[in-house]
Amino acid sequence: MNAKEVQVFINGKAYRAREGELLIDVARRNGIFIPSLCYEESLEPYGACRMCIVEIRNKGVKKRTATSCTLHVFDGLSVETDSEEVSRHRKVLLELYLAQAPNSSKLKELALRYGVSKTRFKQNTRYNDPLSNSCVLCGLCVRVCSEVMGAGVIGFIGRGEKTRINTPFFEKSDLCLGCKACAEMCPTGAIKFRDEGNIRIANSWSNTYVELKKCKMCGKYFAPSKLDEKIDSIYYYRDKNNELRDLCPDCRRKVITKRINLITENEVERYAK
Ligand code: SF4
Ligand code: FES
Repeated sequence: MNAKEVQVFINGKAYRAREGELLIDVARRNGIFIPSLCYEESLEPYGACRMCIVEIRNKGVKKRTATSCTLHVFDGLSVETDSEEVSRHRKVLLELYLAQAPNSSKLKELALRYGVSKTRFKQNTRYNDPLSNSCVLCGLCVRVCSEVMGAGVIGFIGRGEKTRINTPFFEKSDLCLGCKACAEMCPTGAIKFRDEGNIRIANSWSNTYVELKKCKMCGKYFAPSKLDEKIDSIYYYRDKNNELRDLCPDCRRKVITKRINLITENEVERYAK
């Protein structure tokens, strides 16, 4: 059943949305920036970082605050995304996160947007930190690894101030697929991987490594073999003999373009007759 269309007001302007949609999605679709550290569309909302907070208004007067990544819209909902109180709240949070992850340039950039360039809080710097003192413990990497990739390589370790994200006992993991989804998702750029020849190394995850596949056309190593096997096991109907699957993205593009050109030439010839 199609969701009912509703009207919501963001910073005084009316927008159309589907009833029950998350406010953060409605805002982003309409080009309205709301900062977030723990929200990702492909995962269930978590509401942990509090960066996406907005003010809910009733006839222009503040009613309460809510996190926009957990706020489901309804007809007539009215919010302010950058009120004085919201900004003040975000500034304090950013100072806290800067103390937690002092080396993250992405976080520094976000903080500067709110005029925050330093923190009054004690910096939680760790010697030899595998996440380069850039992790804010948002948990996105842990969740994407287990909920989306089904690998469960990493998790929260320890408690309180000593909480870290890593592989169990900081040991190499044989569950890692080498997909780099964790690094892609990390809002602070904390997770490091590197490719060396036919090996992909997860520097941040105790130097866990996986083998890479070689492109049959150009010889370049391009995708983790384990990831390929995992995809095969899910999409068991995938054509195993399709020559494209053993090609890197560049070579795949070249082959497809060649095929399209050939089809077009044949079509032209057919119609010219
Ligand atoms: S490494 Fe990145 S994604 Fe993982 S918890 Fe830390 S900040 Fe979040
Ligand atoms: S993005 Fe909404 S609470 Fe983290």
